[in-house]
Amino acid sequence: MPRPVRPRHALTLAACAVLVAGCGGNNGQSTLAPQSRASREIATLWWWMLAIACVVFAGSLTMLAIAWVRRRREGMPVIEETKGRTTGLVIGFGIVIPIIVNVALFIVANFFVIRQTEAPAAATTSMTIQVVGRQWFWEVRYPGTKAVTANEIHIPVRTRVNVVATTGDVIHSFWVPELNRKIDMIPGRRNRVLLYADKPGRYRGQCAEFCGLQHAHMSMFVFAQTPQDYKRWLQNQAAGARAPGTAQQQAGQKAFFSDQCASCHALRGTSASGQVGPDLTHVGSRSTLAALVLPNTPAALSRWIRNPQAVKPGTRMPDLGVSERDVRSLTAYLESLK
Ligand code: CUA
Repeated sequence: MPRPVRPRHALTLAACAVLVAGCGGNNGQSTLAPQSRASREIATLWWWMLAIACVVFAGSLTMLAIAWVRRRREGMPVIEETKGRTTGLVIGFGIVIPIIVNVALFIVANFFVIRQTEAPAAATTSMTIQVVGRQWFWEVRYPGTKAVTANEIHIPVRTRVNVVATTGDVIHSFWVPELNRKIDMIPGRRNRVLLYADKPGRYRGQCAEFCGLQHAHMSMFVFAQTPQDYKRWLQNQAAGARAPGTAQQQAGQKAFFSDQCASCHALRGTSASGQVGPDLTHVGSRSTLAALVLPNTPAALSRWIRNPQAVKPGTRMPDLGVSERDVRSLTAYLESLK
């Protein structure tokens, strides 16, 4: 039998775990691993704020220690009227220095960092992407093309991309920490943010405003690709759904209509034009399902179709009671939609 962990050790372990929780392995979503100019500005400001906070904290502790060592009476100090030098110290360290520090940080943040990270005039960007926040996925449109996708945004690398962020229901917040600051998606408003990636890669994003039951499972990937790869990807996404190639895929397409999938999902090139859930025209080409909750594998997709509420409670996709045969053919068909 393993030795039980003593409560004090358990506490220390827990404290260490909390301390290092944010450090281990970067999952592509760290504000401190900036991959663009805007996010570098934000990271630099954060490090400065941390350094200044450390100096202030160390200073306070030092003064506290000095006061304790030099106290004239035994026991805990009592609060008394202060006068003379003590009053000067209190005013200096309690009022003047905090004002100077905060005003300096305010000026740097407001006049430099915010300017570096705010959305530039749309005319100075090379392309625009529309992202609509929905409970609980991201709808992504590429104006000028028919491409509509979900949860996985592709952009060409080293290109200024103007992201227009809106919402289809409640307030969400679009945030890809390694590329830029967050931007709220507010009903009736069109907010913008610049996406720019220094190098090809996969960057993780997350909804940053509580938007309901599955807010924490409202994630996305941004794939920055070489211009050629991006062009090829976009051409494929703009095309209609490919025709079923096997008998099972054909049965899957039939089931897509008979099992009510088509009333919520669109398959461009077919009569399915539902707008409630994600566009599934090229769902097989995505790497994840349900806003990054599941990997896009046949087993995971079957699990999702069988009972979405078990995977993502509260999702608008109901348990449709799809027969096991239809689950298999739907999976085969949807996975073929590359
Ligand atoms: Cu969408 Cu939180």
